[in-house]
Amino acid sequence: MFTDSCYYKKLNHAYRQLGNLQEQAGHMPEQFRSIFLSALDEFSNSLREVKFLLDELRYRNIELAASNAALEGERQRYLELFEFAPDGYLVTDRDGRIMEANNAAKELLKAEHQLIIGKPLSIFIAPEEKETFTRIFKKLQEGSVQKIADRRIYLQPWAGKPPFPASFTAGVVRDISGKPGSLRWRFSDISWRKKAEDEMQKADKLETIGLLAGGIAHDFNNLLANLLGHISLARFNLDNPEKLAQRLDLSEKVVFKAKDILRQLFQLSQKDVSDYRIFSIKNIIDNVLELSLKNPRVKSHCTFPRNLLHVKADEAQIGQVIQNIIINALQSMPEGGDLWISAKNITHEEIDRGFFPSSGERNYLCLTVSDTGCGIPKEVMAKIFDPFFTTKKEGTGLGLATSYFIIKKNGGHIAVDSKAGHGTTFHLYLPAREPRGNSA
Ligand SMILES: Nc1ncnc2c1ncn2[C@@H]1O[C@H](COP(=O)(O)OP(=O)(O)OP(=O)(O)O)[C@@H](O)[C@H]1O
Ligand SMILES: [Mg+2]
Repeated sequence: MFTDSCYYKKLNHAYRQLGNLQEQAGHMPEQFRSIFLSALDEFSNSLREVKFLLDELRYRNIELAASNAALEGERQRYLELFEFAPDGYLVTDRDGRIMEANNAAKELLKAEHQLIIGKPLSIFIAPEEKETFTRIFKKLQEGSVQKIADRRIYLQPWAGKPPFPASFTAGVVRDISGKPGSLRWRFSDISWRKKAEDEMQKADKLETIGLLAGGIAHDFNNLLANLLGHISLARFNLDNPEKLAQRLDLSEKVVFKAKDILRQLFQLSQKDVSDYRIFSIKNIIDNVLELSLKNPRVKSHCTFPRNLLHVKADEAQIGQVIQNIIINALQSMPEGGDLWISAKNITHEEIDRGFFPSSGERNYLCLTVSDTGCGIPKEVMAKIFDPFFTTKKEGTGLGLATSYFIIKKNGGHIAVDSKAGHGTTFHLYLPAREPRGNSA
């Protein structure tokens, strides 16, 4: 291999040869000397150019060595950052096989380097989350999604250690030609966050129980006072059968109201859904509209796509929720208005993007009920799901509280959007299935 100095040695040798040739020119006959000397001049010019190029080359070499050293420093720094980052970093190939894993990733997966490298990432995903993971992975692999940010998943560490919740971000690395290449993953353990959330939920539950107990006591106290009043007054009317009958009617109403409250409380106290069915919500909506839509100034508009999935839930309970929401909408429009009811299937993209808090189901349906009624003021909005909260003279304030519990118990989600004076929209997200007979 030639180094700089070896080129310079050869150049010096050429200069010496040139000197010798110039000396020999002195001994040549006159007629050749001038031709020979002009040839040597050209040779000398060429040597000068070579020297210039060699100097340039030497300078470039020095520069290159300096930038190589800087690059190596950068690489070392990147490696250190990668190895000692607090989050678990993994690089997989396009088929999901792990190619690189940093210290934190090995720590999270409770496995040594050789147990991780070359293994499919999917073996470190908890069994019940594998389907969701495969779906996300496919999208990244095909390049239809470039990045997945802050999703939750349960990781399954090596050797049967218990799964734990983690948040992850994943991205596609494109090769020089722009095609999707390897995939980068960042995982962090969020067990503490999950614990904190569970604790908060517990606190929420306690608060709800407190609210519920306070509400029941308050409502029943009023009802009993009412009932006592009617009974006392009935005593004064023993000789007036008409008035007596009136008092008894009023007493009966109070008892019916108490019964209604107890019925809803019973719904709230039921822990599990015992009667899962697969059914169409269209029929339920038709029935509710037929029974409840009495005001001729309210127009209802229903739109459902042909391929609408069926709901998988307790049919009677969901029927009750739809009824509560439609009745609220109708009650918000005593002067008349429009009631819009529509439904659509929710795409996997919307589920994967965390469009709503999903309970891990594969398919969902969204039912939307909009009214052009009085709307809900901001300060009321925070309380509408509280048991016994009502702004109505005759309301129990249990309609939405019960609906919320039922929807949660059935693995769904309820959302509301409203502005005072501009109507209200409720969205119900419900686990869905292909109608019976359609499923593959
Ligand atoms: N579509 C709506 N438009 C305007 N306000 C609404 C609507 N839906 C609910 N609300 C508000 O939320 C409150 C709570 O509703 P919820 O159904 O729980 O009880 P309620 O309707 O008052 O009583 P009940 O359902 O027992 O008749 C209502 O009193 C009302 O203020
Ligand atoms: Mg109601």
